[in-house]
Amino acid sequence: MTSDWPEGQRVVLRNYPVGSLQPSDFAVEQYSAPALADGEFLVRTLFISVDPMLRLFVDEKPFGGAMPAMPLGTLMPGAAVGSVIDSRHPDFAVGELVEGRFGWRNYATSNGVGVNRVNSALGGPENALGIAGLPGFTAYVGLHTAGGIKAGQTILVSGAAGAVGSAAGALIRARGGRAVGIVGGPAKRKYLLEEVGYDAVADRFAPDFTAQLAAALPKGADIYFDNVGGPLLAQIIPLMARGGLVLICGLMAQYQKKDAQHAKDELPDVLRAVMFKGLRIQGFTQVGQDALRPAFEQELASLLATGQLRPKVHVTEGIEQLPTALVNLFDKSTTGKVVVRVASDGSLSKSRPVSSGEN
Ligand SMILES: NC(=O)c1ccc[n+]([C@@H]2O[C@H](COP(=O)([O-])OP(=O)(O)OC[C@H]3O[C@@H](n4cnc5c(N)ncnc54)[C@H](OP(=O)(O)O)[C@@H]3O)[C@@H](O)[C@H]2O)c1
Repeated sequence: MTSDWPEGQRVVLRNYPVGSLQPSDFAVEQYSAPALADGEFLVRTLFISVDPMLRLFVDEKPFGGAMPAMPLGTLMPGAAVGSVIDSRHPDFAVGELVEGRFGWRNYATSNGVGVNRVNSALGGPENALGIAGLPGFTAYVGLHTAGGIKAGQTILVSGAAGAVGSAAGALIRARGGRAVGIVGGPAKRKYLLEEVGYDAVADRFAPDFTAQLAAALPKGADIYFDNVGGPLLAQIIPLMARGGLVLICGLMAQYQKKDAQHAKDELPDVLRAVMFKGLRIQGFTQVGQDALRPAFEQELASLLATGQLRPKVHVTEGIEQLPTALVNLFDKSTTGKVVVRVASDGSLSKSRPVSSGEN
């Protein structure tokens, strides 16, 4: 190890959240980049992804105790894009841009397992965490699970201005489907209608939300692409078309315990509608679907090249901002994919990375 071996910062879990997540549940600490062994390379992270699923991993009893808890003081996991700045690996050269689960830190070593090269045909490096990364691929896998989209079908998407929802809307439109979104607030509604190309959008915070939804779904929804779960499903079920599919992508409204506390038991009403309307409810995960990636990347490259898809990335500056950015996904959700920039460029300098903002 040379004397200019990099020092950086990393974010660790300080305590298990009680109820809603707080930035103080995390700590930012200094550390020295790990040493390189043969067959490894060193990555300087540029953009770090902020994903709602991380909320589930930091609980004291993740998934109701089905998974062991992350020990306190553990590095926060998560995807990141970075530049290879040193290598003792035969297949990864200094200067390459790579994406992998490097965690919330400035420097990471890797042996290459699970690491992808950033595909420049799919936009800038931040896209590798958004439209070309986990959220975009999730939208693609969801529509694939639903059997593809047939022209004329109406697909309702909740969390529609989020990373997955905005990708789903663009893919639905590109395939000739009618995309109807649910968002929180007029600014996101405008964004979906004017920039993503949704056909209709209902604002879940508007007093006439139910009337907006009914007007947007005159023939019902053939597919409900659900990113949020929670009490919304009971409002949607009466608006499903006969034989429709409820596709469970995520349960954003249930990840924080405070939301679950107020839920009333709507299961009997939901099941009644499932029976009388002949509905199907199906969950899916993008995990294990790597065989679909080449087709996904091909479709995506073409949509980006023709301007049919213009992904939005919400960039926050500075590694210290990661905890707040995660909390904000739930409290003041933003539009598009949320990433935090932790270094200014892909330069190969081993100097201390850019870091701004306070918790
Ligand atoms: N199945 C899989 O393989 C897979 C993979 C990745 C992600 N996911 C899941 O996909 C979902 C979307 O992920 P994402 O990355 O797109 O998240 P995101 O960018 O944070 O967007 C989620 C959206 O959910 C809405 N939302 C937040 N809290 C809510 C609440 N309490 N009630 C109703 N809506 C709420 C917000 O929209 P508005 O405020 O505008 O309504 C927000 O824009 C998440 O549930 C995630 O866990 C699943």
